[in-house]
Amino acid sequence: MNLKGVKLTWLGHATFRMETSAGKIVIIDPWIMHNPKCPESEKKVKKVDVLLCTHGHLDHIGDAVEIIKQHQPLVVGMPELCGWLETKGAKNVSGMNKGGTQTVGDVRVTMVHAHHSSSAEDGGQIIYTGQPCGYVIEFANGVKIYHAGDTNVFGDMAIIRDLYAPDVALLPIGDHYTMSPREAAYACNLLKPKAVVPMHFGTFPLLTGTPAELKKLVSGVEVVEMKPGETIS
Ligand code: NI
Ligand code: MN
Repeated sequence: MNLKGVKLTWLGHATFRMETSAGKIVIIDPWIMHNPKCPESEKKVKKVDVLLCTHGHLDHIGDAVEIIKQHQPLVVGMPELCGWLETKGAKNVSGMNKGGTQTVGDVRVTMVHAHHSSSAEDGGQIIYTGQPCGYVIEFANGVKIYHAGDTNVFGDMAIIRDLYAPDVALLPIGDHYTMSPREAAYACNLLKPKAVVPMHFGTFPLLTGTPAELKKLVSGVEVVEMKPGETIS
């Protein structure tokens, strides 16, 4: 996997930090301080320019409010999720919806479909936070990374391949709440990325899928097994 200077760091579960060649920091799914898989050395967020949110569940945006208060990054997500984060102190949001692309910092971000649910809990109330989504992030050097969010496999991943041709797919494999390795292997056949990075596994006992299972099921796609805190560039 060669990202031509873009740095991709896995912070555990579904949280990734990306650093562009211009030094901008993009974080997707900010669950950091309370993420049991995030290394201690990464729990303090030093800088973030853009925050991408796939859906409202705690294990994805559980630390969004605290990070927003500290850094006021540009927050990207469904309009309903961005609207709720505004009520929690976000001053700089750019809500969007599926099929749309916008330039944020020095990356192009396309919001794509995901099959899942999405809500947040606020003071004992369940808040509707719009639909869940995934993102294709295109960097200035041409590298494209697809973060699937939480989802099962779906046939329209073939459209994501045809239109955006991601080089790298970040796919959940944990099973129970998302795709299993079997579904993720099918997703690889639809997406045909050069490399796949498994995520959203092992955090809780229910998330039983493993990268080893995925490796047995795919061919022609490099399975890159990252460790939390590891950076690839
Ligand atoms: Ni979820
Ligand atoms: Mn999740």
